Amino acid sequence: MKRQLDELLDADLQKINHISENKHYAGFSKKFNKEVFVKIFKDSLKYNLEYEVLKEQGTLLLNLQEYNAFVLEYEDYIPITRETMADDDIIKAAKLIAKFHKDNWLMIKNEKEVSLEKVLEKNVTRIADRREYEKVCEINSKLLKNIKVLEAEYEETLVLIHGDFGLRNIMRKDDRLVLIDFERVKYASYYLDFIKYFYQDLNNDKSKIELFLEHYYAHSFEKLISKELEISLVFISSLGILNYTKRVNDKEFERLGLRMLADVDDYFRNN
Ligand SMILES: Nc1ncnc2c1ncn2[C@@H]1O[C@H](COP(=O)(O)OP(=O)(O)O)[C@@H](O)[C@H]1O
Ligand SMILES: [Mg+2]
Repeated sequence: MKRQLDELLDADLQKINHISENKHYAGFSKKFNKEVFVKIFKDSLKYNLEYEVLKEQGTLLLNLQEYNAFVLEYEDYIPITRETMADDDIIKAAKLIAKFHKDNWLMIKNEKEVSLEKVLEKNVTRIADRREYEKVCEINSKLLKNIKVLEAEYEETLVLIHGDFGLRNIMRKDDRLVLIDFERVKYASYYLDFIKYFYQDLNNDKSKIELFLEHYYAHSFEKLISKELEISLVFISSLGILNYTKRVNDKEFERLGLRMLADVDDYFRNN
């Protein structure tokens, strides 16, 4: 694969070490007369989804469909960490994702999560072999009692979400922030983009979340959601993590899923 890419780009690409299921290369391309970045996808569906977004953005140098790969200009991105993230970055990130939610109405081919009830059912069923299943069913039945109201509200929150919004996919470029990595885009509730970001990157810090939401709502068309819909989305996120960590051994991530589930459980105990 590297030899073919080197030939195509007239380059000597170097593999970039990045923990991912995908592969990444970078190097100077004599064909393009610039530094290039190559992303090779493990999964062709994910390649297609990211391709659809990048095509709209007009940032592709070359599309290599037969390899499930594409070539972008190499950018000197500086990663953002929780330690280097200032309040101003939280505001910029809010504006960035607000713009993404407003701008992207592409016709993507993956499944649309337009029914909350169906999303709940799918996610609950997938973890039937886990020991949390009983508790999960109990919580689900509480949500189902109010499903008509929740469903109507959920429908109003549907946009094309990023699907993997968080610091690892927000890059610093000069004094701007840039959103990358669009392989998990899907139609779902805009607020679903925020759950993992709040828990992992903002450490569930109330004032940081408020700052983020203030600027998000100021720059988006979306309405504030009810506490119960928010809890439903925390529940869905936790089930997603509990399903993922069945096949991928990531104890810390699994603990996050369990913490989310405990928060949902607490909510129903107190309400
Ligand atoms: N255009 C680019 N130029 C240079 N580095 C990039 C570029 N795009 C992404 N990267 C780097 O490669 C990493 C992986 O890219 P990403 O699209 O997030 O792939 P993955 O889906 O495998 O996480 C990013 O974290 C970033 O550091
Ligand atoms: Mg990434």
